[in-house]
Amino acid sequence: MNNNKKRSGFQVMCGLIGMIKPLLGYMMIAIIMGCIGNLMATFITVIGGYGFLHVFGVKEGVNLTLIFILLVLFAVLRGVLRYAEQACNHFIAFKLLARIRHKVFAALRKLAPAKLDSSEKGNLISIITSDIELLEVFYAHTISPIAIAIITSVFMVSFLGKLHMAYGVLGFVFYVIVGVIIPLANGKIGGAKGQKYRDSFGELNTCVLDNLYGLEEIIEYAQQDARLQNLNIRTDNLGKITGELKKDENIQRVVTDGVILFAGIAMAILGANLVNCGQIDGPHAIIAVIAMTSSFGPTAALSALSNNLHHTLASGNRVLDILEETPVVEDITDGVDMVAGDIRCEAVDFAYKTATPVLDKFSAVFGENKIHGILGKSGCGKSTLLKLLMRFYETDGGEITYGTDNVNHIKTSSLRKNISYVTQETFLFSDTIANNIRVAKADATMEEIVAAAKKASIHDFIMSTPEGYDTKLAELGDSVSGGEKQRIGIARAFLHDSKMIFLDEPTSNIDSLNEGMILRSLDQEKKDKTIILVSHRKSTMGIADNVIAM
Ligand SMILES: Nc1ncnc2c1ncn2[C@@H]1O[C@H](COP(=O)(O)OP(=O)(O)O)[C@@H](O)[C@H]1O
Ligand SMILES: [Mg+2]
Repeated sequence: MNNNKKRSGFQVMCGLIGMIKPLLGYMMIAIIMGCIGNLMATFITVIGGYGFLHVFGVKEGVNLTLIFILLVLFAVLRGVLRYAEQACNHFIAFKLLARIRHKVFAALRKLAPAKLDSSEKGNLISIITSDIELLEVFYAHTISPIAIAIITSVFMVSFLGKLHMAYGVLGFVFYVIVGVIIPLANGKIGGAKGQKYRDSFGELNTCVLDNLYGLEEIIEYAQQDARLQNLNIRTDNLGKITGELKKDENIQRVVTDGVILFAGIAMAILGANLVNCGQIDGPHAIIAVIAMTSSFGPTAALSALSNNLHHTLASGNRVLDILEETPVVEDITDGVDMVAGDIRCEAVDFAYKTATPVLDKFSAVFGENKIHGILGKSGCGKSTLLKLLMRFYETDGGEITYGTDNVNHIKTSSLRKNISYVTQETFLFSDTIANNIRVAKADATMEEIVAAAKKASIHDFIMSTPEGYDTKLAELGDSVSGGEKQRIGIARAFLHDSKMIFLDEPTSNIDSLNEGMILRSLDQEKKDKTIILVSHRKSTMGIADNVIAM
C-alpha cells in the first residue's frame, strides 16, 4: 500500500527538526558559537575602524593597545568558534543520520515482505543510500545557519539602531533582502532547474548501470553504437544543465554582492545626511558603514543554501514517507503459538491493490504428513497462495486456518518458525556457503549443514569448490548457476527443520537427475511434515500424494 502524504516544505522541515530533540543541547551550542563567531568576524572590521579613526586622531575613549589585543583575540576566537560550531553540527548530523537509518530499517522490517514484493525495491534502495545521506546537508548546514542569520541580524539591527534609529531601519531592510527575498527568489527560479539536473543525473546513472549489467546483450545484438550514442546524449544533456545552473549561481552571487555593496553606499548617503543635519558625528557615520558592509556573512550564506533546500526537503519527504507508512500486514505479537494440524483454505479471495482478483473462492485442505502438489500455469496465483499462507498478505475474504487457529490469530514469530518457505528466487549473501545455509538455523552444527546439503543434492557441488563449505560465494561470482542457488535455498529449508515446508517452483532450474534426488529427500521428510510443492511442471508432481490444480 502506498499512503504517501503530500507535505509542504514547512511540514517536512518540522518533521525533520522534530528528530533533533535528543540532540537539542548540541544544536544550541552550535548556534551560540556560530552567532558569537560571526559577530566577532563583523566586529574585527568595526574595531579595525575604531583603530583607523584613532590613528587619525579621533579618540573614542579606547586606546590602540586595547584595540590591537581585541583584534588578535577576536581573530583567534573566530577560528576556534567556527571549528567548534562545525564540529557540533556534524556531530548532530551524523548521529541523527545513524538514528534515521536505524529507524528506516526498523520501519522496513515492519513493511516487509509486502513492501519488498512490489516494484518499489529500486526506490527503497535510493532512499536508503542517497536520500538519508542528503539529510546531512539539512542537519549540518541548514538549521543552524538559519538560526545564526536571524540572531546575528537582530543583534546588528539593534547595534546600528543604537548609533541612529534610521541606521537600524536601513539595516533591517537590507538583511531581509539578502537573507529572505533573494533566497526565496533563488528557490523559485532554481527549483525547477535543480530538479532537471537531478533527473538528468539519475538518467545518466541508470544508463551507465544498464550498459554495465546488459553488456552481454549489447555485444550479442551489436548495440554498442546505439548505446554509446544514447550515453553521449545524456552526458551532453547533463553538461548543458550543469552549465545553466552554474550561470544562475554566478548571477545569484553577483546580485547578492551587488545588494551588499549597495547597502554600504546607502548607509554612506544616509550617514552624510545625518551628519549634515547634525544628528550624528562623522566617525560614527563611518563606523556604521563599516559595520553594515561587514555583517552580511550569515545572511549571504542563506542565499546559497536555498539552492539545495528544495532537493534536501524532497529527500526528507521520502524518508518521512517510509517512517510513517503503515504496513499492509502488522506482525502479530500477542497471538497463539502454532499447533500441528491440517492447513485449510476456505473460500479465499485475494487481489493485489492494483490488479484484478488473483484468488476467487479458493478452497483446499492440506493434510498432515503428506506432500501436496499445486499445479497451475504461470500467473494463476500459486506463489500468491503461498504468500497468503505465510501471511505476507491478509486474505480479502474467506479464511486460512492451521489446525483450529485462524492464521490471523497465530503469532507471526511462531508462524515463521514452523514453516520453511523456499521462494522462487533464492538470495545468497556474500558469505561462505556454510553460513549461507546456516541462515536457516543460526546454531546448526557442520554435520547438520552437510546433511541438509546432501538432501538438497548440492553437497557434491560444494565439495568441488576451492574451499568446500568455506568458499566465499562472492569469490565464485556469477559462476553459481540458477539451479545451484535454488539447491542452496532448498538446503536451508531442510536445515530449518520445521513442521511445514512450502516450496515455490523449487526445481524449475534443476536438471531431472538432481530434481529426482531432491524429491526423494522430500519424500523421506514427509512422515512428520506437511509439504506443499508448487510447480507448473506435471513431472514434478509425481512425488505428490495429492495434486491440486489451480
Ligand atoms: N506484488 C504484486 N503486486 C501486484 N500484482 C502481483 C504481485 N505479485 C503477483 N502479482 C500478480 O498476481 C498474479 C498471480 O501471480 P503469482 O501468484 O506470482 O502467479 P504464479 O506463481 O502462479 O505464477 C499475476 O498476474 C501477477 O502479475
Ligand atoms: Mg510463482
